[in-house]
Amino acid sequence: MTRDPIQVRGLDHFFGSGDARKQALFDINLTIARGSLTVLMGPSGSGKTTVLTLIGALREVGSGSVRVLGQELHGADERSLVALRKRLGFIFQAHNLHESLTATQNVLMGLEVHGRANADRQRIAAHHMLDLVGLSDRRDYLPGNLSGGQKQRVAVARALVSNPEIVLADEPTAALDKVSGQNVVRLLKTLGQVRGTTTVMVTHDPRILEMADRIITLEDGRVATDEIRNLG
Ligand SMILES: Nc1ncnc2c1ncn2[C@@H]1O[C@H](COP(=O)(O)OP(=O)(O)OP(=O)(O)O)[C@@H](O)[C@H]1O
Ligand SMILES: [Mg+2]
Repeated sequence: MTRDPIQVRGLDHFFGSGDARKQALFDINLTIARGSLTVLMGPSGSGKTTVLTLIGALREVGSGSVRVLGQELHGADERSLVALRKRLGFIFQAHNLHESLTATQNVLMGLEVHGRANADRQRIAAHHMLDLVGLSDRRDYLPGNLSGGQKQRVAVARALVSNPEIVLADEPTAALDKVSGQNVVRLLKTLGQVRGTTTVMVTHDPRILEMADRIITLEDGRVATDEIRNLG
């Protein structure tokens, strides 16, 4: 039996200290199934990015329990967190491409942390990912010569090329037109079905919602609604 890849229990989160200390999350409880596509929604400031960065081990878990791929993050040492992050794929709105590297070289950066495997095979994997996001004709372009949406798709390819077990995405389709946005989400859904990749995505895009397996709404740092869909 496979354990659920994401298990959150009694998670509170605070920002700041002293008088400025402010609670951003209140008693979050979530169990997210392997291979599913979960959408996180909610008003600005409701805590979506905070939840995503806590699950991604990018922020210290100070209370409750966040278990990701079997690793408890509360109280975990830095070495375990670094090891865990290598098994995750991150797609954030600021795509952070290296301006001096081509699309292919940027995607290869997604494999850097995984050590030096066969360079030819890495290049094939990078080209394959660029094909899947519809950029086979832009492989050798520098980011400066790509549109915003094309850069965003390079960032998607970079996040997926290492075959992460979990993908955490913060508004990954914001810069994309309808068709390329749906293609990215369809790709994530296919990876869920074929490889068991679990995706948690923040989006306000109503066109993406119909593809979600589950829609969780946050309000003022609390889970307000939690709807499971697409059951057969
Ligand atoms: N680094 C920080 N320091 C202090 N407060 C923060 C910090 N990051 C977020 N917050 C606060 O925590 C709350 C949740 O922020 P978060 O970024 O998770 O919201 P969000 O739902 O992602 O919003 P948006 O849709 O605007 O991206 C907000 O009140 C925000 O002001
Ligand atoms: Mg946010």
